[in-house]
Amino acid sequence: MVERAKRLVSRSEGPMPDLPEITLRPIGVVRNGVKDTNTLAEIEVDGLKSRIVIRPEYEEGLLGLDAWSHILVLFWPHQVPEEVRGSKLRLHPRDDPENPLQGVLATRAQIRMNPILCTAVRLLGVKGNVLRVQGLDAIDGTPVLDIKPYIARFDSVPEATMPEWVTGGAEMGKGK
Ligand SMILES: C[S@@+](CC[C@H](N)C(=O)[O-])C[C@H]1O[C@@H](n2cnc3c(N)ncnc32)[C@H](O)[C@@H]1O
Repeated sequence: MVERAKRLVSRSEGPMPDLPEITLRPIGVVRNGVKDTNTLAEIEVDGLKSRIVIRPEYEEGLLGLDAWSHILVLFWPHQVPEEVRGSKLRLHPRDDPENPLQGVLATRAQIRMNPILCTAVRLLGVKGNVLRVQGLDAIDGTPVLDIKPYIARFDSVPEATMPEWVTGGAEMGKGK
């Protein structure tokens, strides 16, 4: 009985610790002339070219980036109102009732609790503090939190599996 109780206790994760609030300062901004998300939804995002303007004081941090063909861009969808963030724990992906109800953390929805979005994009060039990229599903003025080189060996998992609402049925495109 005591052994069983011990096992149960050791398996418990315990209470959630008092985790700190985290403040982030964007390192740059997206510029592409796409003024709103409705416009973005009408565009073929894979072909969309954007500039990412990095804060001039961080320009030195871009040394060597131009040797990479692709980068990961982490960005913050600033036009999602604060009260909408994390407001739905379950949703139909892409607002399509045909898609099965999913936990928000099982989707790529932008209305998540901490909406840190991440997209792999083609890096077309780097000049000074400005990156030119293609395929970024962010609107003009979007704050950029971070960028990292895309390393296929680490960031791509060819044998990854996913649910049918992603692989079959409706088109799954960036910005859709
Ligand atoms: C569904 S999220 C996915 C982003 C990223 N590919 C990911 O998987 O993390 C992309 C959508 O966020 C929305 N979005 C982009 N920039 C935004 C911004 N600055 N404010 C609010 N919504 C934005 C657009 O509707 C865009 O199609």
